[in-house]
Amino acid sequence: MSRTVYVNGDWVPEEAATISVFDRGFLMADGVYEVVTVLEGKLVDFAGHCRRLHRSLSELDIASPHTEEEWLQLQRDLVHRNRLREGLVYLQVTRGAEDRDFAWSEGLTPGVVMFTQARSLVDNPLVERGLDIITIDDLRWQRRDIKTVQLLYSSMGKMMAKRAGAHDAWMVEDGLVTEGTSNNAYIIAGRRLITRQAGHAILQGITRTAVLALAAETGLELEERPFTVAEAQAADEAFVTSATTFVMPVVTVDGVKIGDGQPGPMARKLREHYLQQARDAAI
Ligand code: PDD
Repeated sequence: MSRTVYVNGDWVPEEAATISVFDRGFLMADGVYEVVTVLEGKLVDFAGHCRRLHRSLSELDIASPHTEEEWLQLQRDLVHRNRLREGLVYLQVTRGAEDRDFAWSEGLTPGVVMFTQARSLVDNPLVERGLDIITIDDLRWQRRDIKTVQLLYSSMGKMMAKRAGAHDAWMVEDGLVTEGTSNNAYIIAGRRLITRQAGHAILQGITRTAVLALAAETGLELEERPFTVAEAQAADEAFVTSATTFVMPVVTVDGVKIGDGQPGPMARKLREHYLQQARDAAI
């Protein structure tokens, strides 16, 4: 079934949707995006994603084309028009279109694209299996806190993992894990939940914020600091978080088993708690 997508103010069938070849998102990766999960036809953690979208835009001096209320209406409309029950809303805002130049003209009209992807997210067979992770150097730029569409190195990292027979890659800088190609990375040692602190080195995941808030009630003590690959390999459990995978267990890092090589009980518990509160708070 053809989807209805949103392009610069219009609702159009996906086959008819077009953007300008001069769009700076296309020419310069000059734009930002968000991925919002949809469960039972409702948006999960909309407010958090909207806040981060506005922050990303402001860090790049792009004026948000919509208010929070307008974004909510647009995303709800998109979900409704596509009868989406489970999957995601992809939303991208670019600086706008003009003749190619490194410098841009102030006050361009931002480009906005939104579409849905239907996908079974809760029933993911990888939850029972757990992820095999490889590690790679983190060669991205230094402002990973801004959710830009500049995703080439992350895509290359995912392909390096696939070609190595693994599911994903964790990126390492100065001997310390930053994050996954499209998720935040965590280890559990005893009762301690360890993950890198927010800052320019990682994207501050919306799922991360929600999961960290659940740490205490899961019986975990939070330690926000970077960890090494060796520490991860010696941990009791490891997992990643993102909007589309929620909490996903990691069972090997560079071929070394984490714990007994099975998804860990705390990761399972965090996933259940997270899903419960995500469903309860979805709008
Ligand atoms: N990726 N770190 C990176 C580099 C990411 O790309 C993502 C999300 C996250 C987790 O953020 P959140 O919990 O807000 O989804 C961390 C999305 C899902 C994507 O690009 O598809």
